[in-house]
Amino acid sequence: MDKKIVKITDTSFRDAHQSLWSTRMRTTDMLPIAEKIDEIGYHSLEVWGGATFDVCMRYLNEDPWERLRQIRKHVKKTKLQMLLRGQNLLGYQHYPDDVVEEFVKKSVANGIDIIRIFDALNDIRNFETSVRAAKKEGAHVQGSVSYTVSPVHTLEHYVHVAKDLKEMGVDSICIKDMAGLLTPYNAYDLVKALKTEVKLPVQLHCHYVGGLAAISYIKAAEAGVDVIDTASAPIAFGSSQPPVETVAKALEETDYDTGLNVHKLFEVAEYFDALRNQYGKTTGTSDLSVMRVFEHQVPGGMYTNLLSQLKEQKALDKLNDVLGEIPKVRQELGYPPLVTPTSQIVGTQAVFNVLLGQRYKVIPGEVRNYVRGLYGKPPASIDPEVQKKAIGEEEPISCRPADLLDPKLEKYREEVKDEIIQEEDVLSYALFPQIALKFFKERRDGRLNQPVENIYAVEGEEEKEMKLNEVKELIELLNKTDINELSIETEGNKLAIRKGLAMTEAPVAAMPAQAGVPVTETVAQAASAEKPEAEDISHLTPIPSPMVGTFYRAPAPDAPPFVEVGGHVEKGQTVCIVEAMKLMNEIEAEESGKIVKILVENGQPVEYGQAMFLIEED
Ligand code: CO
Repeated sequence: MDKKIVKITDTSFRDAHQSLWSTRMRTTDMLPIAEKIDEIGYHSLEVWGGATFDVCMRYLNEDPWERLRQIRKHVKKTKLQMLLRGQNLLGYQHYPDDVVEEFVKKSVANGIDIIRIFDALNDIRNFETSVRAAKKEGAHVQGSVSYTVSPVHTLEHYVHVAKDLKEMGVDSICIKDMAGLLTPYNAYDLVKALKTEVKLPVQLHCHYVGGLAAISYIKAAEAGVDVIDTASAPIAFGSSQPPVETVAKALEETDYDTGLNVHKLFEVAEYFDALRNQYGKTTGTSDLSVMRVFEHQVPGGMYTNLLSQLKEQKALDKLNDVLGEIPKVRQELGYPPLVTPTSQIVGTQAVFNVLLGQRYKVIPGEVRNYVRGLYGKPPASIDPEVQKKAIGEEEPISCRPADLLDPKLEKYREEVKDEIIQEEDVLSYALFPQIALKFFKERRDGRLNQPVENIYAVEGEEEKEMKLNEVKELIELLNKTDINELSIETEGNKLAIRKGLAMTEAPVAAMPAQAGVPVTETVAQAASAEKPEAEDISHLTPIPSPMVGTFYRAPAPDAPPFVEVGGHVEKGQTVCIVEAMKLMNEIEAEESGKIVKILVENGQPVEYGQAMFLIEED
């Protein structure tokens, strides 16, 4: 009898560094080892999708499409795989069908063989368009069930979703255990049930988090799993996947042998080990609060986000409170599995509930939309009190969310026709309009592939300390004047210092200088700059920002501002958006009155408590 081979997908270029390094591995880090990985004999390499698309443009000044083409050029034998969030594509909201179809088409055209599609709510309607498009493009379509633990997430639920996916035409089923909650014996039962009842190949995707994943893989192998996901050891463990070396060794010379050569795997691991040292990253072992995933269910990627978001809001000490709040919010919102974008939706609401000292005082627009049903049908019913707070008497929708969205591709193409150098740019813009415009400008200015953060990386602690102070001083000076931006040059690095910048650490504080902006003021000039005559503002009421974030006057770049100077606002009326923690948070006036001054410029950062408007109360 033939040996039953368990095949392996390597996630080192996508999920592994997304989970451990906030998705910061660069294309130039990948290419030198890509050919060696191609020789290993993996079933596929997951190299694209998830958060990589966003991070490429937002932080690395990289073109995500070019990354995919480069990897395809170096990986000639092994299938390339991506993760797609169904109707959310690689963003955090639903996109119109025409955008979804074009995105899938371009993903395949640029080198993707296997598209793993999931929906955070396992709402089958949210798969329709992307599955159809991927089939049409000839890709292998893998339909995922997002695994979570709740009273409504039973074995029958997953089998039911998988059967619907099969009916839709998917080629295989993935169990997506993003938080590492799947226990070995449940893994056995679930794989067995899917294999016998759905009769499609089954792939298991677990995160190591609480340490169950490697054991679950063994039980899944016994139950007949076809493919499992692992990463190279230096970027495995913890929030990432189990290490391939361990899994290959565990299954070696059994009926489930992976066929991989452990010695060769270690050669690849050496490369990632050196890279990890270069980045100064620790190993992926889990600390206790991460391991308590069985209680808070926060998946790895979300956990590191949560940490940086709390740090940004200067509230790292509130971590345990937030981890305790998350299960409550999740229950109130009908037990959504915590995976992008529901992880952001639940996580951010929990952060606000804790930070503002009052639950549901600020409700992000995304949470309201979730309650409206715009992300799909929640697995269980939403707490009526919370629903009322979020959307009042409004009735949630019952149709497929994307049915409410008009085609937009042509409109987007027209909007950025002067910026695009490839068709794919239209899609980058469609998904992340603000980020893409910034990226296009950086590209035009010749800053392609220069990470936003690394521009300011300096050698040695002492020097860093000095530079931080330097930047801090400049910001303080700037805030006393009417100058909005300064540029300084240190060791050939141009820094632009903008008014109101958050002062957490240099890379966050300093944004790259924009070429073509004639900013030549010196520190001295800034200090002595003329200030306008002081006017009495004591009778005016400020509207402060409830969080650290980015200030936007309008809901979208092409939309009119919420309010204008001279206009009147009612209590409870939205005055602006503060983008924080990846969500667009509508800020409401707490009093009625006339807008007298708008103190922050569109797109500028705001601090916690910083006044954004001055109003004259009625
Ligand atoms: Co994952």
